[in-house]
Amino acid sequence: MLSREDNFRLTRVSAGTPMGEVMRRYWQPILLSSELPEPDCAPVRVRLLGEDLIAFRDTSGRIGLVDAYCPHRRAPMFYGRNEECGLRCVYHGWKFDAEGNCVDLPTEPVSSKMKDHIKIAAYKTYEKADLIWAYMGPTDMMPEPPDYEWMRAPKTHLHVTKTYEHCNWLQALEGGLDTAHSSFLHRDKLWVGSKLRERDGAPRLDVEKTDHGYTYISHRNSGEDGTYVRVYQYVMPHQQMRGGVTKDQQRYDYPKLDGHLWVPIDDQQTMVYNWACGIDHNTPLPLEHMLKADTGTGRGPDDTIPGTFKLKKNPSNDYMIDRALQKATSYTGITGVNTQDFALQESMGGDGSGPICDRSKENLGSTDKAIIAMRNLLLEATRDVAAGKRPRGADPKSHCATRPFDTLVPPNTDWRKEMEYDLKPKW
Ligand code: FES
Ligand SMILES: [Fe+2]
Repeated sequence: MLSREDNFRLTRVSAGTPMGEVMRRYWQPILLSSELPEPDCAPVRVRLLGEDLIAFRDTSGRIGLVDAYCPHRRAPMFYGRNEECGLRCVYHGWKFDAEGNCVDLPTEPVSSKMKDHIKIAAYKTYEKADLIWAYMGPTDMMPEPPDYEWMRAPKTHLHVTKTYEHCNWLQALEGGLDTAHSSFLHRDKLWVGSKLRERDGAPRLDVEKTDHGYTYISHRNSGEDGTYVRVYQYVMPHQQMRGGVTKDQQRYDYPKLDGHLWVPIDDQQTMVYNWACGIDHNTPLPLEHMLKADTGTGRGPDDTIPGTFKLKKNPSNDYMIDRALQKATSYTGITGVNTQDFALQESMGGDGSGPICDRSKENLGSTDKAIIAMRNLLLEATRDVAAGKRPRGADPKSHCATRPFDTLVPPNTDWRKEMEYDLKPKW
């Protein structure tokens, strides 16, 4: 459990709050590159860490991320004209470049110097791995942009999507780090990975602190076959990386790896960025085709309401739970792994003042070790940032060589030696 004070400290992300300041020391994904498909295309609304912003791709391809409201009289920049290397407010024509400089102020005399003093708040951006990233913290504390292995995968072997989740970011992240739930919540998924999970519903968990956050290892007894070892990575502040066992249980240099980043929109909403990279060895189809098969998981293109990243199965229809199915073949009666996760995470018990999970009422057990460790690291980060230090995991050197992996380790062998090569990045 957490005290109500610490729960508050970890969950709130606006500027000036302890976690809000921590989040502002990391680069955050803000959009898929495809949401700003070409120079001078339509600007897009972005809400991030409780701030309303507008993103635009200018004539030269540069990405601007500026305050959603014009510094003249606070008109909405969303309706602006994206033209000739800047975004022009359509109320009185003031125009700003991607750095936030006012480059045209047509309502003042030509001789006026006012333009030189006007700025719109703007954040640094970076584009890589089909994503647009932003840094919202103090410039002198800005780390190099992130460099996760999956970001180095060639475009042909990387797939990135995003999904809207209607809950506080921390309870969504906790779902990602909670290894034990997959033996229960997702029990209707019938392939080798989950069979290995089903055989032992009480995995032993080790958590080892690293410069990027921690590595956590679950060991599930698989009888005479050995131990099913899953090595996951928690990369601060909100990323999980995981491997996937292949049907033939062979090891490959470029296995399919997956992960999520739970990016806070504000205190009560999260944008989940989902990535997958590598070669899928469970099917002869290339990665791209296989990801189309994501449909039905709750992440596929047919699972969301067109024009949004929101699930069709959501709290308004109880995630379309089928109680007959729940009695017959499915543990939950809810179809789709991702939807199952959302159903639990989006409806957790708050403290009566709102929907944020009230952790002062929990009773944690041995399988919650990774969650406890994550909360401690985040509390440490709030102290580090308050002391003027860079938090763990922000420097790309801390995470560039990090990789997850899982496999069946033969009886009486040391998993570390067995997996040493597999855990080294190959891209
Ligand atoms: S409010 Fe934007 S130019 Fe006047
Ligand atoms: Fe899950």
